Amino acid sequence: MKHSAGALISLFDIDRSSQHSLYKQIYSTLRSSILEGHLEPGSRIPSSRQLANELSVSRNTIVQAYDQLQAEDYLESGVGQGSYIKLQFADSLPPVKKVHSKNRVRVSKRGQAMLDAYTPETPAGPPSPFVPGIPALDSFPYKEWQRAMQRAGRVISSADMNYGSTAGYLPLRKSLAAYLAISRGVRCTPEQIIMVNGVQPGLDLIARILTDPGDRVWIEDPGHYGARSAFSAAQNKLIPAPVDEQGLVISKEMQNDDHANLVYVTPSHQTPTGAIMSLERRLQLINWADSKGAWIIEDDYDSEFRYRGQPLAALQGLVEDSPVLYMGTFSKTFVPSIRMAYLVVPEALVDTFCHARRTVDTHSPTPLQVAMHMFIEEGHLTTHIRKMRNLYTERQQLFLEATQRYFNDAIRFKASDSGMHLVGDVGQNDDRLLSQAAQLVGFVVPALSDYFIGKADRRGLIFGYTCVPSEEIDQKVKELSKVLNPLLK
Ligand SMILES: Cc1ncc(COP(=O)(O)O)c(C=O)c1O
Repeated sequence: MKHSAGALISLFDIDRSSQHSLYKQIYSTLRSSILEGHLEPGSRIPSSRQLANELSVSRNTIVQAYDQLQAEDYLESGVGQGSYIKLQFADSLPPVKKVHSKNRVRVSKRGQAMLDAYTPETPAGPPSPFVPGIPALDSFPYKEWQRAMQRAGRVISSADMNYGSTAGYLPLRKSLAAYLAISRGVRCTPEQIIMVNGVQPGLDLIARILTDPGDRVWIEDPGHYGARSAFSAAQNKLIPAPVDEQGLVISKEMQNDDHANLVYVTPSHQTPTGAIMSLERRLQLINWADSKGAWIIEDDYDSEFRYRGQPLAALQGLVEDSPVLYMGTFSKTFVPSIRMAYLVVPEALVDTFCHARRTVDTHSPTPLQVAMHMFIEEGHLTTHIRKMRNLYTERQQLFLEATQRYFNDAIRFKASDSGMHLVGDVGQNDDRLLSQAAQLVGFVVPALSDYFIGKADRRGLIFGYTCVPSEEIDQKVKELSKVLNPLLK
């Protein structure tokens, strides 16, 4: 129904307690009435004095709303003639019925590939018990982090508030280069480090820059579904590489693949099986990549959590100028919400990655990087990792004792010297069904089957033991066993 401007008072529903100012409310009502065709184009609107009286608001409020509408081209006024709704709207108004954008969603092929990728959401809020990959949030170093943020606030210059360097805050990259050289044997200069907002966006960047649709990407099977989703969203051809107790197996087919583009691996602690890639396999993989002209993507996501003995050095540093793009993340050593990770690229790729990255998200937030730099420089990160190593050793032990007590070998676990999760072997039981049953009572223990690209040859449930407070582990395992035990054959 069209209202003449005179009858427009009935359109207003002013809320004086609203957080939106009166002028904004009046402006919005008039604007949507014009756009939705409720007001006749060409008709005169009441004078500001008249409308102010009718609505019992100040005249200034109405003048402010009219000025805004005039500035945005909804109204026109002639000297001494009042204001009119612009006639141009007579032809160009959309139908009175609201446009429903839902009906017109059409995604591109690339968008569809993203939608088809397997990307279960990790729910926000307190972590569900045993959800894999989440650190001990109950032991977050509040005092030390606060201090690092305060110090960052003091040292950040006004120049740091401008756009920053694409690759990230140089002092942080310098401390990371030193840390990676000592603790992971990574060979790189600070210039080769690119700060990214997580391993996931790093993988997306790699896929975009280094692959075309249809390119052949070898990927651990079972493997990290974040990597699978990044490369399948880039419309690559994913080729499953089996995994045994020495990590990724370089099969005959892989050896003979002269068109391979890249391979994704988690050599320090294979996701999800926990296998540690042997030195022989590592060298074999480098030789393979070298001979095929392929890239190795090394995801070193949780290598800091090694509970006995020394971890093997990163694949990246085994030979000089290796064909490896190395990634590490603060999601495990610190917290996932910080969205901070680092990509180490060969020198020949530095400019390419920086240039291309500017198309995507320009760079990572500088103030957070400065705070992380302070946190590292003051030794807090090393202390935190050391504390978490002890805590996770304790939590794994408590978890294993509880599973022995309540699952009584119906789900079998093996102790592990590293990582943040364990795989529970469920034999021939349907792991997806068990995982769904657990989910119904608030536990997130993904099925091993969901980590496979092809047919799963093993069944199990993945348990993250690091995020459950030590004193709750026994009770939580007990609760879950009551749900799962009756389903286990
Ligand atoms: C193998 C692997 N890589 C990386 C990550 C973390 O990625 P991000 O840095 O995006 O949080 C995870 C998280 O669970 C993971 O399992």
